[in-house]
Amino acid sequence: MLATLENTSTTVLKPKKITSICCIGAGYVGGPTMAVMAQKNPDIKVTVVDLNKQRIADWNDSDLSKLPIFEPGLDQVVAEARGRNLFFSTNVDDAIREADMIFISVNTPTKTYGSGKGMAADLKYIELCARQIAQIATTDKIVVEKSTLPVKTAQAIKSILDHTGNGVKFQILSNPEFLAEGTAMTDLANPDRVLIGGEQTEEGLKAIQSLVDVYATWIPKAQILTTNIWSSELSKLVANAFLAQRVSSINAISELCEASGANVEEVAKAIGMDSRIGPKFLKASVGFGGSCFQKDILNLVYISKSLGLTEVADYWEQVIIMNNHQRDRFANNIVSTLYNTVSGKKIAFLGWAFKKDTNDTRESAAIYVADKLIDEQAQISVYDPKVTAVQMQADLNYLNTRSEAENENFVKTETDAYKALEGAHAIAVLTEWDEFKTYNWQRIYESMSKPAFVFDGRNVLDKTALEAIGFRVKAIGK
Ligand code: UDX
Ligand code: ADP
Repeated sequence: MLATLENTSTTVLKPKKITSICCIGAGYVGGPTMAVMAQKNPDIKVTVVDLNKQRIADWNDSDLSKLPIFEPGLDQVVAEARGRNLFFSTNVDDAIREADMIFISVNTPTKTYGSGKGMAADLKYIELCARQIAQIATTDKIVVEKSTLPVKTAQAIKSILDHTGNGVKFQILSNPEFLAEGTAMTDLANPDRVLIGGEQTEEGLKAIQSLVDVYATWIPKAQILTTNIWSSELSKLVANAFLAQRVSSINAISELCEASGANVEEVAKAIGMDSRIGPKFLKASVGFGGSCFQKDILNLVYISKSLGLTEVADYWEQVIIMNNHQRDRFANNIVSTLYNTVSGKKIAFLGWAFKKDTNDTRESAAIYVADKLIDEQAQISVYDPKVTAVQMQADLNYLNTRSEAENENFVKTETDAYKALEGAHAIAVLTEWDEFKTYNWQRIYESMSKPAFVFDGRNVLDKTALEAIGFRVKAIGK
């Protein structure tokens, strides 16, 4: 079926008015999204459930600094809605039973086993949710896919739900999340668009309209797009693939700039002023991270391969190959610049999160750069304002490259940036936290081994000012 993008404000239907929402999964997507939905719809009861007891306890903590996710502005929204119409619970069954509309917002990691290993999304958590809903529901439900999913997952969910034999009717919608971490609250309050895909039947269109009405309390109807389900699912993957492609494109040019003497920031500015190209997502970096870009492109590649579209698959795979290359190149540059050996040398990392203003570390370039430098037996000392030592070790252990004891031995975490930098031979900037710009760089220089190197993987520091102090600075694409 072809996609039909229509403005639903013209659709005349009598949709079910939603009074109770359940969201399964209290993570980076489910938590903030439901907090805003509850804030904007005080007459709808919103219950966010998760199997992870600690996560739910943290969401319910009276100390708002303990929320499990750091996102600027999230604490205020939770303070406003929690206990009024926003609830966090581990009682998944009750929340399913009570809800008219159920969002599935569980994790969909890349498969680490079997067919599609390393590429396809692992749908076991989604399937478990679908089975639980099928088992518990006694009244009709609208089930909304929120997690990033490969195209046609809705079909799988529907097939599970439609075979319960208890007469309950389900409508499946796809409503992909486009929020970016670090700016989630503004993205949710003021999104470029909301996309809702559903079956193009009378019941499907009614379900779509019910969800449109939930969003329409704060989003202009012209920005709420409705499509068929497959278009919606695919649009999410494609949006992320296009964004990631821009980062890989500018990163490819950064290597060319370094080799040729051009400056990647000047090139980015020059091309970004072409209104057809635009200025956003042209910041060269040590590589993109986050839970979505790599996973979504791998999904796209997997789907294309499955359909026999080899050239399409190869085209998108190149975005990932370039990203891996950029991380490797950054680590190799540190080793070669430090006279081809970092064994026993202290390398200080500023930042571990995959970008600023989040404590999320999934697929962060820092993990891969650290892994390469550990192979070279560097002593890494990390400071990140929001990421814990436990998380850093978990990220390294997840790679399964060496023993946990070795990772602990090679990577130490400091809660004081100056301590992390003291005595270091080189600094690697892996996240663009604003606070790094405010440091006393003269004091840092004096505390370091000389020559003191800075490898700015985010181009956040003032290269000229640092060089005037005496640092030897290598920035991406300059
Ligand atoms: C992304 C999409 O932006 C969002 O719409 C989707 O819902 C989830 O995936 P997110 O992963 O939170 O959001 O962060 P984003 O701001 O897109 O950045 C992703 C990565 O690309 C980060 O590591 C970031 O540092 C890097 N990046 C981004 C660059 O290196 N250069 C840029 O110019 C932009
Ligand atoms: P995302 O970035 O997509 O939000 P997260 O990993 O941050 O991903 O969050 C997903 C959440 O979903 C986790 O807290 C996990 O415990 C939860 N979860 C996974 N499966 C289930 C399930 N069957 N029932 C309830 N919660 C689940």
